[in-house]
Amino acid sequence: RPAPLIDPFQRAITYLRVSVTDRCDLRCVYCMSEDMAFLPKRDLLTLEELDRVCTVFVERGVRKLRITGGEPLVRRDIMHLFRGLSRHLASGALDELTLTTNGTRLKQHAAELADLGVRRINVSLDTLDPDKFRAITRRGDLPVVLDGIAAARAAGLKVKINAVALKGVNEDEIAAMLAWAHGEGMDLTLIEVMPLGEVEPDRTDQFLPLSVVRERLQARHTLTPLPDRTGGPARYVRVEETGGRLGFITPLTHNFCESCNRVRLTCTGRLYLCLGQEDAADLRAPLRASPDDALVAEAIAEAITRKPKGHDFVIERAARPAVPRHMSTTGG
Ligand code: GTP
Ligand code: 5AD
Ligand code: SF4
Repeated sequence: RPAPLIDPFQRAITYLRVSVTDRCDLRCVYCMSEDMAFLPKRDLLTLEELDRVCTVFVERGVRKLRITGGEPLVRRDIMHLFRGLSRHLASGALDELTLTTNGTRLKQHAAELADLGVRRINVSLDTLDPDKFRAITRRGDLPVVLDGIAAARAAGLKVKINAVALKGVNEDEIAAMLAWAHGEGMDLTLIEVMPLGEVEPDRTDQFLPLSVVRERLQARHTLTPLPDRTGGPARYVRVEETGGRLGFITPLTHNFCESCNRVRLTCTGRLYLCLGQEDAADLRAPLRASPDDALVAEAIAEAITRKPKGHDFVIERAARPAVPRHMSTTGG
């Protein structure tokens, strides 16, 4: 096994998140504006270049790859990338290849993803009410996503549901979503809205601290904290009444950066060292400068020496973007 990259705070970087497109077929209100401007396609890394960078990371000790977006499954021919990267699962170099998706195209791709060795996927879904779903996503059809989830499960994929908690929108539905997800044998993770990128209208009326949600849930549920499992940002509890797992991602009310194990690559080849900071390294130039990967490996190693301690989101400014880029650029 290659020795992992170690950052200045002694954190091992074993997890790479890759946004393969900034585009999406939905326009969730907390994520994008209606009239979102997307990058010209010529600025994107090719699928071959994405494979090359991911492979260099795997050779440098990354054990988990998560493909994100935007919506990863809207990128043309994206399964070509999964097919290529699955060789690292087969060789044992990679523990996990996975994706985070909005579910709209899962029906078409679930079976092949499962065949390639993807085991668990995360599906973003904030409500089970079709009208609310349309209002949040501005253009989504809930039944399409539910069919996608069903197809994924039928193909043998484990599904975790990610729901952003939104004040006055889905807060009354969280217990129902918990009952549904756990009833179906799926984990549920709740996420606090983060101040990434300008959206119109701004997020002033959207932020809901998960400490409040947790307290409300405790009126009817027994939540037993579980030990940290993924090294990820979510803190999990077991819900004794359902037997299922519930995660809380609380960048604003409780910072989890001290155990950060990840970096993020954008679809244009910029390596962001933290979701909430602007510093990034360009990997596209070294990729294109030479077919030899040594320059890329060098640029990655240099970037990791600059990984910051953490984000500095603060609740008092939850509505104002802390960084100008949207979640869809850096892939959450
Ligand atoms: P697993 O732990 O592997 O299930 O993945 P995950 O929950 O980290 O991945 P997922 O794509 O489901 O991420 C859910 C959300 O967590 C993302 O959209 C982000 O909003 C948030 N998130 C993930 N990583 C970080 C991080 O390093 N910092 C912050 N602030 N938020 C993160
Ligand atoms: N704050 C929190 N979560 C967000 N997502 C997108 N934008 C934001 C934001 N500003 C979520 C999506 C999805 C994940 C990839 O990121 O709902 O679950
Ligand atoms: Fe698309 Fe996900 Fe952003 Fe919604 S949150 S617009 S599904 S990228």
